[in-house]
Amino acid sequence: MLKTRITDLFGIEHPVIQGGMQWVGYAELVSAVSNAGALGILTALTQPTPEDLTKEIARTREMTDKPFGVNLTVLPTINPPPYEEYAQAIVGSGVKIVETAGRSPEPFMELFKEYDVKVIHKCTSVRHALKAQSVGVSAITIDGFECAGHPGEDDIPSLVLLPQAAEALDVPVAGCGGFSDAKSLVAALALGGEAIVMGTRFMATKEAGIHQNVKDKMTEANELSTNLMFRTMHNTARVFKNSISDQVVEIESSGSATFEDVKDLVAGQRGRVVFEEGDLEHGIWSAGISVARVKDVPSCQEMVSRLVSDAEKIIDGRLQSVKA
Ligand SMILES: Cc1cc2nc3c(=O)[nH]c(=O)nc-3n(C[C@H](O)[C@H](O)[C@H](O)COP(=O)(O)O)c2cc1C
Repeated sequence: MLKTRITDLFGIEHPVIQGGMQWVGYAELVSAVSNAGALGILTALTQPTPEDLTKEIARTREMTDKPFGVNLTVLPTINPPPYEEYAQAIVGSGVKIVETAGRSPEPFMELFKEYDVKVIHKCTSVRHALKAQSVGVSAITIDGFECAGHPGEDDIPSLVLLPQAAEALDVPVAGCGGFSDAKSLVAALALGGEAIVMGTRFMATKEAGIHQNVKDKMTEANELSTNLMFRTMHNTARVFKNSISDQVVEIESSGSATFEDVKDLVAGQRGRVVFEEGDLEHGIWSAGISVARVKDVPSCQEMVSRLVSDAEKIIDGRLQSVKA
C-alpha cells in the first residue's frame, strides 16, 4: 500500500488519478479507474448540457461505489458554455471531488465550499498554484511541460516543477505530465508529490471509450510523437503528431499566422471524429510525451495494479540495493 496525504484526502486506495479528458472521460473509464482503487474523473464539458452531466454522474454511480470526481475546465472562448450551470449540476448530484483547470477556481469556490466539495486545481506554474491555495483548494495538480493538452508557456518539466511546487505549497501536490508507470510514480513520490495524475496512459486502456485505432497507434509511438501547436499564439497545446498538427505547426512557422488561419484544421469536432471513428488523420487529438511509454492496452484494473505493485518492488528492491 502506498499511503499519502492525497489517498487520505480523497479516500482512495492508490495515489493515482485519471485527469479529466475531453471526449475520453466517460462513465465507463471513470468507474473502471475508481474500481481499480485510483481516482476516476469525468469531464463536465464532454457532456453537451449540464442535464447530460447529471445523467453521466448517475451512470457512473451505477458502475462504482468508490469515490470519483468531475473535471471543470474553464477556458476563454467566444461562446462560453454555461459553467455556472455545470457547477450546479456537479454539486446537485452530490459529487464531492472536483478537478478545476484552465482559469482560477475562485469564482466557484464559495459554491464548492457550501457543498463540502474538495477541489484539486490543475495548473502549470507555482505562482498559479499559490493563488489557488490562497482561495481554498484542497490540493494542487502541477502540470509539467510533458503533459498532453495545455502545458502553459513556462516550459518547465515535471522533474523541476513538481519539487518546486511541493516545497512552496502547504496543500498536497500531485505530479502531472509525463507520468505513466511505476518508475515515474516512485519518482513523483521522491520529488515530494503525493500522487500522480495521468491522462495519456489512461487513454490506452480497454475501458477508454475511444477507437481501437487510436489506442493501437499510441502503442507504436515514441518520445518524438507529439507536436506543440499554438506556440505563436501563447496558448500552447501538446497534441499527437499527425498530418494535421504538422500542418498547423507549418502554418505557424510563418510567424504571422492568426487563429483564423488554423481554425478549421483544429476544430474540436474533427478531433472528436478521430476518437469516435478511428480516422487518425482527421483532426487534432491530445497526447503527452508519455505516449512513448505506452506499450500495451490493458484494463484499468491491470494497469493500476501493475503500477502500484511494481512501484513497491522498486522502493523495496532497486532503491534499497543502491544504498551503500
Ligand atoms: C485526450 C485528452 C484530453 C484532455 N482534456 C482535458 C480537459 O478537457 N481538461 C483538462 O483539465 N485536462 C485535459 N487533459 C489533460 C489531462 O487531464 C492531464 O492533465 C494530462 O494528460 C497529464 O499529462 P499526461 O498526458 O502526460 O499524463 C486531456 C488530456 C488528454 C490526453
